[in-house]
Amino acid sequence: RSPIVVRDFALQIGRKPFQLISELMEMSIFASMNSSIEEDVAQRLAKIHGFALEVRHRGEGGAAGEAEKVVEEKKPAREMVPRPPVVCILGHVDHGKTTLLDTIRKANVVSSEAGGITQHIGAYQVTHKDKLITFIDTPGHAAFSNMRARGARTTDIAVLVVAADDGFMPQTDEALGHARVSKVPVVVAINKMDAPGANVDKVLRQMQERDLAPEDWGGETLYAKVSALKGEGIEDILEAIVLQADVTETIVADPKGEVEGVIVEAQKELGRGSTASAIIQQGTLKPGMALVCGENYCRVRQLINDKGEQIKEAGPSSPVKIVGWSGPPDAGDFFKVVKNEREAKKHAEANELDRKKLEATQLQERGSTSVDDLF
Ligand code: GTP
Ligand code: MG
Repeated sequence: RSPIVVRDFALQIGRKPFQLISELMEMSIFASMNSSIEEDVAQRLAKIHGFALEVRHRGEGGAAGEAEKVVEEKKPAREMVPRPPVVCILGHVDHGKTTLLDTIRKANVVSSEAGGITQHIGAYQVTHKDKLITFIDTPGHAAFSNMRARGARTTDIAVLVVAADDGFMPQTDEALGHARVSKVPVVVAINKMDAPGANVDKVLRQMQERDLAPEDWGGETLYAKVSALKGEGIEDILEAIVLQADVTETIVADPKGEVEGVIVEAQKELGRGSTASAIIQQGTLKPGMALVCGENYCRVRQLINDKGEQIKEAGPSSPVKIVGWSGPPDAGDFFKVVKNEREAKKHAEANELDRKKLEATQLQERGSTSVDDLF
C-alpha cells in the first residue's frame, strides 16, 4: 500500500498542511508534513473537511495490494434540518454572565413548569415563542477557547454581555476576538440597565467602533437592553438570539445521521459512576448505544435532561447527561457512536495506546529514553 502523506493529502483536499497537523495533534497524533498517516485517520480528517476518502485497490497490472487514494467531494449524504442554536455567554468579569444565565433559566422554568427544579448539567434549553435555545452554562472563556482550539464549532451564537455602567472592557474585547476567530456571530446583551450610571449610548458607540454596528444604527448586530438582576429585557435577548439563529445558515443537523456530540463537563457521581454532560451535534442518541470519547467509552445506561428527567432519546443541540462511562471524558472532547460496547472499548484502548506512544516519542525527542525502554 502506498502511504498517505500529510503534505499530499492536504493538497488533495485543498487545505494547508499545518492545519491538518494541528488537527492531528487534537487526535493525539504527532505528525509532520512528511509523515504518513493511517487510512482511518485520513478518513477522519477527510470527514472533518467534508470529503469522503475512497481507497482504490489496484488489481491486475499494479503491484499486489497497492492502493491509490482518491478523495472526492462528499455527496450530500446528510439530510440537514434546522436545529436549536447552541449559545454561550461571554463577557468581562462581573458584567453579569452568571446572573443572566440564571435569570433566563428561572424565567423559563417558572413559566413552563410551575416552579420545577432544574438540574445542573452544564447546559440547558429554554423555549422562546415555540423555538428552543440551548445555553452552555459552563465557564465561558475556558470552555469556548478550548473547544475552539479543537477546530470545531460547538457554539453557534455568542451572547456578549456588556454592563451598561462599565462599557466594553479588556475581557469583553478578548471574548469578541474569540468569537470572531471562530466565526461565531455575536449578539450583545447590554446588561445592568437598572444600575446608576448606565449609559446605553456609550455602549452602542463602542459597538460601532468595533465593527459591531447595532441594527438600529444601520448595522447588523442584534442587541437587547437587559437587567439580569431585575429580570427585565429577557424576552428581548431571547428574541435577538432567535432572529440571529434564523439568519445563520450553519445551524442545521441530521437527526437521523450518525450520532456525534461534544462533552461539556464530566464527573463521578455516587451511585451513578462516571457521568458526562454533552451536547448532541448530529443524530439522535438513545440508551443502549455504545460511545467512544478519547480514552473513555460508554454503553449508554441512562439519558437525563436538564430537568432531571430520564429521556429515551436526545436529538441535535440537546443538552443531556449520559450515564454509563468507563471514566469521565474530557470537557471539549468529541464522542461518536460505534457498533457495540466491545468496539467502543477497543477504540478507547487504542486511543490510550496512541497517547502513550506519543508521550514516549516526546520523551525520546527530549533525549531521555527510547521508546523500547518504555514498552
Ligand atoms: P464572573 O463570573 O465573576 O466573571 O462574573 P459574571 O459576569 O458571571 O457576573 P455575575 O453574574 O456574577 O454578576 C456580578 C455582579 O453584578 C453581581 O453582584 C450581580 O448581582 C451584579 N449584577 C448582575 N446583573 C446585574 C444587573 O442587571 N443589574 C445590576 N445592578 N447588577 C447586576
Ligand atoms: Mg460568573
